[in-house]
Amino acid sequence: MISKDTIDQVLMRNDIVSLIGSYVSLKRAGSNLKGLCPFHSEKSPSFTVYPADNSFYCFGCGAGGDAITFIRKRENLDYPDAVEFLANRAGITVVRDEFNNKYTSTPKFDRAKMLKMNVDAGKYFHRCLFDDTPEAKAALDYFVNHRKLSLATIKHFGLGYAPNSFDAFSKYMLSRGYTYEELVAGFLCGKSERGTYYDAFRNRVMFPIIDVSGNLIAFGGRVMDDSKPKYKNSSDTPVFKKSRNLFALNFARLSGEESLILCEGYMDVIALHSAGFTNAVATLGTAITSEQARMMSRYAKKVIICYDADEAGQKAAMRAIKMLSDVGLDVTILKIPGAKDPDEYIKLNGPERFKKLIEGSKSKFDYNMENILSRYDISVPQEKIKALHELEKLISETYSSAERDIYIHIVSDTLSVDAKSIKSDVDRIVNATIKKRRREESSKIKQDAIGYSDKVNPDYIKAPAVARNEEHVLGLLLLYPEYRKSAFEQKMLSESDFLTDLNRRFFLYLKEAYARGDESLAGMNEKFSEDELGRIMRMKVARMGLTNTEGALDDAVRALQNSVRKKNSQSTSTFDDLNKLLSLKRQN
Ligand code: CTP
Ligand code: MN
Repeated sequence: MISKDTIDQVLMRNDIVSLIGSYVSLKRAGSNLKGLCPFHSEKSPSFTVYPADNSFYCFGCGAGGDAITFIRKRENLDYPDAVEFLANRAGITVVRDEFNNKYTSTPKFDRAKMLKMNVDAGKYFHRCLFDDTPEAKAALDYFVNHRKLSLATIKHFGLGYAPNSFDAFSKYMLSRGYTYEELVAGFLCGKSERGTYYDAFRNRVMFPIIDVSGNLIAFGGRVMDDSKPKYKNSSDTPVFKKSRNLFALNFARLSGEESLILCEGYMDVIALHSAGFTNAVATLGTAITSEQARMMSRYAKKVIICYDADEAGQKAAMRAIKMLSDVGLDVTILKIPGAKDPDEYIKLNGPERFKKLIEGSKSKFDYNMENILSRYDISVPQEKIKALHELEKLISETYSSAERDIYIHIVSDTLSVDAKSIKSDVDRIVNATIKKRRREESSKIKQDAIGYSDKVNPDYIKAPAVARNEEHVLGLLLLYPEYRKSAFEQKMLSESDFLTDLNRRFFLYLKEAYARGDESLAGMNEKFSEDELGRIMRMKVARMGLTNTEGALDDAVRALQNSVRKKNSQSTSTFDDLNKLLSLKRQN
């Protein structure tokens, strides 16, 4: 438990606008601020910050809460660490009640200590690369002669070697004061079923993974031959999340370029940097995520996708185009002729030729058009028709109608087909897609409205009318603290008025907080999950626009109690309700 005083202070000293503003670019909208949500990808801003009560809510994905909730989600920290993070930011010392700390059940590690552990490990691996043993010499030989890396590059990236031993590394780390438990939590050691520990990386060349702020957060280790698996990477640890980091972004962000080059492999990035393309980054062995796309959009306007030439690489490139353009980045794709990846290409042809490739990189449309045309022989009418259909489908995926027009003319010229008829085909596809999208959306809204797909409050489906009334009452209590007095002192409400679990728990929480004299509800982050906090915020913001009338709470409570009575006199079977909902859906 962290004391209420500390939490109040942490929240008071971290102005939510400047905190969130350091992650998201915010624009004033009346008394609030709006921006693009950092938790889902969107093009028009539905993420809102409310300076008046230090909170945020996204109308698109339902994320919401206070500064602590924001940091929990954004920095991927658990509750106490998020508080500590904000405390540090504001120069406050965190006071933790040591007894009854429910977080001790999952081993808790100090972020700072884990980062330092990684640095010590990284230095160890780096030193081992220069050991006077045959195996270390082979590792250095692999980098220098086989992969053609200079010593300067090896130093720059902090590359290393993990010795071929089950305990050489851990013995060293234990001597530096780390425990096995810490080494396992940092993915540097494994624990066997017999309970013995072993070094996680053995006989591999090592790639340290550094985050944007320069912390060493994880490692990737490669074998030096063709054995499998080729790479072994740290799993997610308390300081590392694969999906939220990019290899070499710490260097690339300082390159001074307006663009980033996105590759698939560590070796590609290293080869590009040493050839002078210091704006190259790579994902960490996974397909690109929307979080990584958003990160890139913070450092660049444009991304050049430079994936492997094989089919898998080209497929992944298509996915990357979508992810990256969704966050507003200009995207071009580069095809590598006569080599399997950028690393090999540069080794064969040198930096100048690679620069030419970059200059000739193509937009999504040109790239796809080239691919489509390469698959058909357009001198054969049947094939030409197939190519035309694919091209029309491709054009229909373009959002702007002016852009569609341009493409229509290009295709018209290339295939010598009348532009008007292409346009009418494209319009038909566009309209059909819009219709389909609408249908999907309205059925989703209906489902949400009846709580059919409610994961945050699964009880919603059992009593939708009651749940709606519960939310109304709770929203009012949250928005207008003055109502809490009558609600709790005159005992207008009791636990049994709440039929859904989340809302009942929240009611009890409000009641206890009132009894403690806690009006700011500072400890909410300790009791509710991130999703639950978002839901609770929704109850509040949904009522912000309403003018508060006298007796609003009385009315809301009465409506709730009526709906509960009605519900209790009805069936008690979930299946009856489910059937009813299903027939309701069929009618619509
Ligand atoms: N990767 C991985 N695990 C594997 C294979 C690949 O995590 N078993 C990840 C690594 O991050 C790697 C990237 O996917 O850098 C790209 O894979 P690949 O092209 O096979 O590796 P390269 O780094 O290009 O290695 P090399 O050129 O040495 O073959
Ligand atoms: Mn490769």
